[in-house]
Amino acid sequence: MQGGPSGPLCGKAMRTAQVICDGAIAVKDGRLVAVGERPDVEAALPADVNRVDVGGRLVTPGLVDPHTHVVYAGSRASELEQKLNGVPYLDVLAAGGGILSTVEQTRASSLEELIAAAKGRLETMLAYGVTCVEAKSGYGLDWATEERQMLAVRELAQRGPQRLVSTFLGAHAMAPEFREHPSAFVDAVVGMMARVAEQGLAAYADVFCETGVFSVEDSRRILQAAQAVGLGVKIHADEINPLGGAALAAELGAASADHLCAAATGDLIKMAEAGVLAVLLPATTWYLGKEMAPARRMIDECGLAVALATDCNPGSSPTENLQLVMQFAAHQMRMTPIEVLAAVTRNAAYAIGCGAVSGQLEVGRPADFVIWDVPDVSHLVYHFGTNQAAEVYIDGRLVAKRGCVL
Ligand code: NIG
Ligand code: FE
Repeated sequence: MQGGPSGPLCGKAMRTAQVICDGAIAVKDGRLVAVGERPDVEAALPADVNRVDVGGRLVTPGLVDPHTHVVYAGSRASELEQKLNGVPYLDVLAAGGGILSTVEQTRASSLEELIAAAKGRLETMLAYGVTCVEAKSGYGLDWATEERQMLAVRELAQRGPQRLVSTFLGAHAMAPEFREHPSAFVDAVVGMMARVAEQGLAAYADVFCETGVFSVEDSRRILQAAQAVGLGVKIHADEINPLGGAALAAELGAASADHLCAAATGDLIKMAEAGVLAVLLPATTWYLGKEMAPARRMIDECGLAVALATDCNPGSSPTENLQLVMQFAAHQMRMTPIEVLAAVTRNAAYAIGCGAVSGQLEVGRPADFVIWDVPDVSHLVYHFGTNQAAEVYIDGRLVAKRGCVL
């Protein structure tokens, strides 16, 4: 369990997330009304209150997945063979496949089809204990499809039960129509920002800042346009090549910089100084066969607040399973179990502007929590590859039980 002062946990403070060994929570009208040591919570409650004994099992805040591309159509399974033969991810994209293949399939899909596809993925996430999710657009690269993706997120947020945060990723790849005129596409994305803000379609804008995709200069222009209309900003930064996206995130005061496998240490320190969260995506790194982000250095030397996410998408991370991401973080990046938990709860919520609502068990907050089939935090990353969430609650209501969404 967690509590304490507000803000993400930075650097070594990630290990201070509070765990109560004999704890209890009390829920009334969908909100937490007491959290703490069991005897204290029990003493504060009326005698006739309904009590549930979870048998010494672990209870955590609902997990938060702060970087996903859940709204897309189709599959890229046909590219798997290429990947297994060692064709680099960016080469597939440069040849017109990769993200552009999903763009083609998404452009051809209706709003209803996108909603249905994303709903299935969100339900899988829910069954794995994820109660709050960020969802990016970026498979349209034209206004009509980008808008449709963001409308799908809006509709899914209204239907619930998860809390969703929408991000506009119009600059995810160069639109095929603009291949010969890349700067005109940057102009076009800049021109979309006002509409995104006016229609309240997204809280954040994001850019894929990478070799052969968007340069640091293009990314700066796009994200400054986003800030000018009041959107928060995020960056896919320094994933494959160290372009300097992390430094740009610091310069702009971004909410987060994500991926960061190749980021320079000096740029990571700038991020920490500017209060930018590092969102790490180890399932993607594993799937692409790359070197993991230096999480230990980020936490111990740079003092960064680290969060973890699935990056759920059809190309570089076809999974909804945040628990597996947690296990990768422990075993591949040597994050401790308590750091991992902080990274998928409190810090993840702050990475998407939900820190005051999600990610902590605190009196007054919505009762979003998970009862796990494990006795302590270590078991969340000790046992791997299965779904260990027994019961998932949002607003105090049971929404998933043993893998089944209710
Ligand atoms: O975060 N890197 C760019 N965007 C996604 C991949 C999207 C895709 O391949 O469809 C990512 O890994
Ligand atoms: Fe991504």
